[in-house]
Amino acid sequence: MASGLLKTLFILVILSFASCKEDGSFVFNGFRGANLSLDGFASVVPDGLLVLTNASNLAKGHAFHPKPFKFKSDSTPGTTLSFSTTFVFAIIPKYSYFSGHGLVFVVSHTTDFSTALPSQFLGLFNFSDNGNASNHVLGIELDTIPNSEFQDINNNHVGIDVNSLNSTYSTGAGYYDDSTGAFQNLTLASSVPMQIWVDYDGEDLQLNVTMAPVPMAKPNKPLLSSIVDLSSVMMDSMYVGFSSATGVSLSTHCVLGWSFKMNGIAEPLDYAKLPPLPRLDRKHKSQKLAIWLPLTSCALALLVVATVVLVVKRRNKYAELLEDWEKEYGPHRFSYKELFRATKGFNDKTLLGSGGFGRVYQGVLPSSNVEVAVKRVSHESRQGMKEFVAEIVSIGQLRHRNVVQLLGYCRRKGELLLVYDYMSNGSLDNFLYDETRPVLSWAQRFRIIKGVASGLLYLHQDWEQIVIHRDIKASNVLLDSELNGRLGDFGLARLYDHGTDAHTTHIVGTMGYLAPELAKTGKATTKTDVFAFGAFLLEVACGRRPVEPSAEGQQVLLLDWVLENWKRGTLLATGDPRLAGDFPVEEMETVLKLGLLCSYPSPDARPTMRQVMHFLDGDSTMSDLPPSYTSVGILSMTQGEGFNDYMMSSSSSVSHMFELSGGR
Ligand SMILES: *[C@@H]1O[C@H](CO)[C@@H](O)[C@H](O)[C@H]1NC(C)=O
Ligand SMILES: *[C@@H]1O[C@H](CO)[C@@H](O)[C@H](O)[C@H]1NC(C)=O
Ligand SMILES: *[C@@H]1O[C@H](CO)[C@@H](O)[C@H](O)[C@H]1NC(C)=O
Ligand SMILES: *[C@@H]1O[C@H](CO)[C@@H](O)[C@H](O)[C@H]1NC(C)=O
Ligand SMILES: *[C@@H]1O[C@H](CO)[C@@H](O)[C@H](O)[C@H]1NC(C)=O
Ligand SMILES: *[C@@H]1O[C@H](CO)[C@@H](O)[C@H](O)[C@H]1NC(C)=O
Ligand SMILES: *[C@@H]1O[C@H](CO)[C@@H](O)[C@H](O)[C@H]1NC(C)=O
Repeated sequence: MASGLLKTLFILVILSFASCKEDGSFVFNGFRGANLSLDGFASVVPDGLLVLTNASNLAKGHAFHPKPFKFKSDSTPGTTLSFSTTFVFAIIPKYSYFSGHGLVFVVSHTTDFSTALPSQFLGLFNFSDNGNASNHVLGIELDTIPNSEFQDINNNHVGIDVNSLNSTYSTGAGYYDDSTGAFQNLTLASSVPMQIWVDYDGEDLQLNVTMAPVPMAKPNKPLLSSIVDLSSVMMDSMYVGFSSATGVSLSTHCVLGWSFKMNGIAEPLDYAKLPPLPRLDRKHKSQKLAIWLPLTSCALALLVVATVVLVVKRRNKYAELLEDWEKEYGPHRFSYKELFRATKGFNDKTLLGSGGFGRVYQGVLPSSNVEVAVKRVSHESRQGMKEFVAEIVSIGQLRHRNVVQLLGYCRRKGELLLVYDYMSNGSLDNFLYDETRPVLSWAQRFRIIKGVASGLLYLHQDWEQIVIHRDIKASNVLLDSELNGRLGDFGLARLYDHGTDAHTTHIVGTMGYLAPELAKTGKATTKTDVFAFGAFLLEVACGRRPVEPSAEGQQVLLLDWVLENWKRGTLLATGDPRLAGDFPVEEMETVLKLGLLCSYPSPDARPTMRQVMHFLDGDSTMSDLPPSYTSVGILSMTQGEGFNDYMMSSSSSVSHMFELSGGR
């Protein structure tokens, strides 16, 4: 009896040592059954893989060791203790040529990152606390998007972050080969496991970060070796863990194994025990169904809750936010009460649709009987709001028959309402993909295409300032009662773009329309708009979405498919089958080729919108596409530097096409 008890006690003691040894260390070769504190999208899948963000949009996820460690020395007060960690991670982008945003190893005084933002903030900070010394956060970032607002060097770097996303030190991902000493580049978002070692010496204040592919012994020469005084960053008790975040570019960030030790070298990982990475097949149709079913019951429950809340909050019903700086925009300001009445209280019956930026309602202004569309955009941060309102008011002054007129705005707590002209035929994508709608004839499509091109030309070149749309796609093209195409939602993307600086680089847009150089530079330009316009042309001509899953479950770019057909001489076969071949061959060919040209990998080789108008009007003829045209999808397989080189070298060979064939 007694011996049994002793045995149990003994086992208990052993167990507690195994999970967290006295010296402060742990090893996870896979995370099956691991006691971690997780939040956001983070989860441990049954195989034992720690998934921080799966492919969700604007997601963040955190995983911390549940117990903090003692990071300050008792004997020499103030000094930071040494520590060492190593982990194996993988970043799996959903679209091979676009990843985002990154994964960070974190030492932090708190595990509460609820006020931190996803995307470029990597789930660590927000607009107001980035750089604040009271954060007490050390991060080793593995960042796959360049953000000039944080002075990021490229789209594939490792950085040391002290309380701030402006890295103290950073360098391109890779390692120094032990035998030759040569530097070898590694691509973070390449869907293969890679290992990081972080070693800090509390006496020398030296922080080393080393990287290598798996399996490979730790290279002798670290990737980064820097003197970093952490004495004011570290507190006595600190948590260790991971943070990661996605933006518009979707990535699965995962950790396969992790070892940590205070005052010593972290125990090596056992590669044989690490869990496998997820297989990359996706089942779209079934997923959609699975999401819809719970959504409807959720919506019901929400409705009930919303009704109760509405009754309770009746007094706050018409509350608005109005600040001094808004006085000059008086004429563009709507009262919330008016919009509330116009839309019958934002009744679901008046709901026209909901897009990436918010829900849109139909309404009739009581004062003037004008039909309007009211877009409700939720917006937490007030940062940049002033600049944004200034911009939308200025955009509201532009008038073009192919641009949806912005009539004004209203502001409430955490919410912005934008009032537009009502477009009775809704958005173009409904016509393209909704089987119950009548098929748009080629003549109608061609007129819509020309209309959108002329609207975009106006934004790019003919108005007093250059307006970059940033989110051109069929669902942002609205049709008026005569089926004229009009561009909507321009500039709205900017609201999500930090706002305070016109040149910041939070990437916004929609997958399939995003130009490849956006991943490199993060900057939206008229050329990235032209790329999206190219994808739009193909979409309208082919009646297919810019990204569609293939039979094998892989994501296929429409652009690549059309390009393949062009190379095989079967370009016309890509035309929308719903048109049943009823189109003038030259027009269809022009639109398809122009689509390919606009979406050319190299930005310099893309035409301007004025050239596009000339081609569409038949004022100048396009010469043939260069036979060297290689698809974005194929280029991304030879990722990294080769991609850049190609973009640079191929631009010159194409640009003279315009000189030959006229243009401007
Ligand atoms: C991603 O995580 C969310 C939340 O945990 C879950 O609902 C969703 O099914 C996951 N998606 C995939 C593709 O694993
Ligand atoms: C996980 O660790 C925390 C902190 O040590 C502890 O409070 C909790 O009980 C543990 N949970 C499990 C399931 O072991
Ligand atoms: C930013 O994060 C800090 C915590 O570090 C929080 O106090 C603050 O409210 C957050 N700001 C916003 C705008 O969410
Ligand atoms: C980060 O860098 C940007 C760009 O140089 C600068 O404007 C900003 O103030 C920096 N932020 C911090 C917290 O250092
Ligand atoms: C830093 O954060 C602390 C605590 O949240 C706050 O009191 C302080 O004003 C912040 N400093 C700056 C420069 O924002
Ligand atoms: C590695 O990347 C750097 C910077 O991107 C580049 O200059 C260098 O040529 C690359 N080296 C190799 C071996 O690809
Ligand atoms: C960091 O790297 C340097 C150079 O290889 C080495 O001399 C030093 O011991 C390393 N420090 C730590 C803490 O690993």
